[in-house]
Amino acid sequence: MALYAIGDLHLALSTNKSMEVFGKAWENYVERIGESLARLSAEDTLILAGDTSWGMSLEESEADFRFLEQFPCRKILLKGNHDYWWNTNTKMQRFFDEKGFTTLQILHNNAYFHGGAAICGSRGWFFEEEQGGQNEKVLNREVGRIEASFRAAEGREILCFLHYPPLYVGYRCEPILRLLSEWGVKRCYYGHLHSHAIRRRIEGVAGGVDYSLVSADYLAFVPKKICD
Ligand SMILES: [Fe+2]
Ligand SMILES: [Fe+2]
Repeated sequence: MALYAIGDLHLALSTNKSMEVFGKAWENYVERIGESLARLSAEDTLILAGDTSWGMSLEESEADFRFLEQFPCRKILLKGNHDYWWNTNTKMQRFFDEKGFTTLQILHNNAYFHGGAAICGSRGWFFEEEQGGQNEKVLNREVGRIEASFRAAEGREILCFLHYPPLYVGYRCEPILRLLSEWGVKRCYYGHLHSHAIRRRIEGVAGGVDYSLVSADYLAFVPKKICD
């Protein structure tokens, strides 16, 4: 009954956006993800930390969800900046129910429990977003989502999963870092960083929080074990 995490699978089984164009690191990536996921059991839980599918709609992502569904572990999905298929909780759940996808669950304004800990998180915020309009509004909404998720932990130890790193060499997202500190979060897992950007990751303890990058190419497509 272990907990694992990996982000940025960037599956593209029904779109023409295969990550194989990015060279050796992504060679046969779907096959390699399949081999790793086949090693997890039905009692295990896998957090998918965003950028799961390139599909532009739930329908376009169906083949990617079906690929994930063939592996028995429970998968908890949070939103990445490329998850254009993302929809309301109700619509996503209805789609999964209709298609018979029983192992997929959504992390959005909620939390899931694993032993004595709570699985919390959201997409997060990144400096890329600051170039768009209405930044403060979007940032505040995102902070609200993370806080709603922390509240749903009901006092359990919070394991925080974000797509965007709240801390990065040359970047700090103060409102999110403040939230982690206020809620006593000790462990934070994030994705989004690929290839040359991986060099700028924060790995290890900073400001009392233990950070780990779990993007798929960084992990060589093997999910990171968080705890038993
Ligand atoms: Fe990504
Ligand atoms: Fe991303």
